[in-house]
Amino acid sequence: MSERYDVVVIGAGPAGYIAAIRAAQLGFKVACVEKWRNPNGELALGGTCLNVGCIPSKALLASSEEFEKITHHAADHGIQVDGVRVDVARMIARKDAIVGKMTKGIEFLFRKNKITWLKGHGKLVGQNENEAMYAIEISGEGESQLAEARNVIIATGSKARHLPGIEVDNKTVLDNEGALALGEVPKRLGVIGAGVIGLELGSVWRRLGAKVTVLEALPSFLAAADDAVAKEAHKIFVKQGLDIQLGVKIAKVEVDKKKGVVVSYTDAQGAAQTLEVDKLIVSVGRVPNTDGLGLDAVGLTANDRGFIEVDDHCQTRLPGIFAIGDVVRGPMLAHKGEDEGVMVAETIAGQKPHIDYNTIPWVIYTSPEIAWVGQSEQQLKQAGRDYKAGQFPFAANGRALGMGLAEGFVKVLVDSRTDEILGVHIIAANASDLISEAAVAMEFKASAEDIGRICHPHPSMSEVVREAALASDKRALNM
Ligand code: NAI
Repeated sequence: MSERYDVVVIGAGPAGYIAAIRAAQLGFKVACVEKWRNPNGELALGGTCLNVGCIPSKALLASSEEFEKITHHAADHGIQVDGVRVDVARMIARKDAIVGKMTKGIEFLFRKNKITWLKGHGKLVGQNENEAMYAIEISGEGESQLAEARNVIIATGSKARHLPGIEVDNKTVLDNEGALALGEVPKRLGVIGAGVIGLELGSVWRRLGAKVTVLEALPSFLAAADDAVAKEAHKIFVKQGLDIQLGVKIAKVEVDKKKGVVVSYTDAQGAAQTLEVDKLIVSVGRVPNTDGLGLDAVGLTANDRGFIEVDDHCQTRLPGIFAIGDVVRGPMLAHKGEDEGVMVAETIAGQKPHIDYNTIPWVIYTSPEIAWVGQSEQQLKQAGRDYKAGQFPFAANGRALGMGLAEGFVKVLVDSRTDEILGVHIIAANASDLISEAAVAMEFKASAEDIGRICHPHPSMSEVVREAALASDKRALNM
């Protein structure tokens, strides 16, 4: 006998567990299938984000930033500190404890919302057409079991893309998982891919003392960001000591007992180069997880890039089957998946939710952080939009100076005719928090004048957002 549910969610990452909670809040009988095992061998909820992604990386970012503050910036504040050293094992244990707390927290939320955790690998095995129920087999943890549901939400996430011929063992050649679990600071660290993971984790180990070389295939740096922000970021990261090489072509990676990892590549000028490092991070994007999901059993297929095709409401071409998060189109961002989870649960309940994908904020947790929402200047130019730009530096903000965090700026792009905000781009400490004001403003179709007229606390970093909005009309007050 199989248990029947209104909604079965496959995958308990941020997209899946949020979908399950929202569906339960709306009164549905909900189960969520998850098979993740943590390094202690325990089954864990939370997916990549909580176990080996957003949460652990932010814990290590914070620890390494504390170290850098003490070693490099305490003296500026008139504080002398001697004998500072890093205890990597303690740092990693702190990160693991935070992960444990967060993943246990989801177990608590599941119990509170009466969501059944079906432990194991979930696979679609067919459809009972009369009753429009889908059958899901859960296997891999003891005896397999069957569940049936009117609605299935696929939230199986993504995994690190590996390069052909480069074996990732997560000891010497690492993806995001290994890069979060090193036992000591490598003297020389190589990173293939100057994307989000490469820059965030490369920065962690640089701050702790590694000499970091980043090899990027594209000729431009941070192509997805606004050009002005990308240029500023490149300048700051190089000054911090990251060796960033653009336009490279990786030829071969070999692990040599004496030399370490030897990366052979051609540089932007076409000259053959080799890089010898102790550890190598491969961070060249992620691919959706659809292996063994049984899509064919219900007549679905992944597209040629491995994604499940869905419409604007995350509905597949089959009624009752939805897909959300990294396994579908759009940015691979936890908060995008969470919002899709809420949208699908509410759609199943007959509501009419909607996501404006243009107002999903992007964040890169480097130091300073980079965050943006809406369109970049190059996108507006390409679309032929008539726009105005306003920019204001943190160097002219008293709070930022006081905190010793005066790097970066806010740039606001507005429609020349209507003054509507079209994009906001921030490179600064706490950009991840500052960007929320811009996201709210854009959701409400605010104008730059709206932001300019709203009282902002003084002194605060948020004043720079207001000043940049005013600057788009050439009336910044403190410049
Ligand atoms: P990414 O897509 O951000 O960057 C990958 C980089 O590798 C690109 O710049 C690409 O040009 C480069 N690349 C690709 N093939 C290459 C090759 N053969 N040689 C050299 N360079 C090559 O991917 P990343 O950093 O692996 O992150 C994966 C996903 O995880 C992203 O979609 C990201 O959005 C998400 N993520 C988000 C975070 C956040 O929101 N802060 C944090 C970490 C990951």
